[in-house]
Amino acid sequence: MPQGFSIQPLEAATFGAIVTGVRIPELDEATWRELHAAWLDHALLVFPGQFLKRDEQISFAKRFGPLEFEMAALSNVKADGTLRLEKDNDDMMKILKGNMGWHADSTYMPVQAKGAVFSAEIVPTVGGHTGWADMRAAYDALDGETRTTVEGLSAYHSLHYSQSKLGHETKASDGEYNGYGLHSGPVPLRPLVKVHPETGRKSLLIGRHAHNIPGMDKAQSERFLEDLIAFACQPPRVYHHDWRPGDVVVWDNRCLLHQATPWDMTQPRVMWHSRIAGDPVSEAAIAA
Ligand SMILES: [Fe+2]
Repeated sequence: MPQGFSIQPLEAATFGAIVTGVRIPELDEATWRELHAAWLDHALLVFPGQFLKRDEQISFAKRFGPLEFEMAALSNVKADGTLRLEKDNDDMMKILKGNMGWHADSTYMPVQAKGAVFSAEIVPTVGGHTGWADMRAAYDALDGETRTTVEGLSAYHSLHYSQSKLGHETKASDGEYNGYGLHSGPVPLRPLVKVHPETGRKSLLIGRHAHNIPGMDKAQSERFLEDLIAFACQPPRVYHHDWRPGDVVVWDNRCLLHQATPWDMTQPRVMWHSRIAGDPVSEAAIAA
């Protein structure tokens, strides 16, 4: 165990911990095992000031399992170094804006993600925080009647749905954004209550991609899901991280929602996302 190694739970939230005294690229096996157990327990680990190189971030993400994709930039800086303008409202800007709604990653794919490693390279002076919300604690906090109701429900998940709700027309493949998730395949159906495959804990599986609960009409379903998100994503079940360059986080996408938050887009923000693939046994949709 490295000297000075510490996993400090977040004080004001039901989840999350800050990890210090360790260098991610130099993790020994014993420390890794302790970190992995802490990750399952806290669902979000924050490692300040790691400044991982690309291959180091990918290697770290792979310790959690196979990757859905290795590394993608979430950024308002274009390949030529100029800033993406809000008014241009291109495909990447639409996705950046869409990500500001609470969601879990890849629930609109046949297999939802297990988690993600996310790091900050360039951060704005104000705003641009990332929020997470603990859907285990949200499930636990439901009143008995609502809990019984949600146990029997499911919802469809679609990125076309969530983007079009914001007035963002989605196209499958054009533009700089590669259209990831905007497939024309079947729309996955997922239960509203997910059982974590490793901890056995139940959590709410909701978020902006969820819609059209079978058995409800569209308006009723929308209202029900919006109310559920509003209830679930509030203190003490939320944490917003104020990034510093070099910070790295890893979160469990099987029990947390997350959101981006606004920043002054005349300032650059460059973040790197490595997405850990879900296990088809436990993260596949129940129907599509
Ligand atoms: Fe996301």
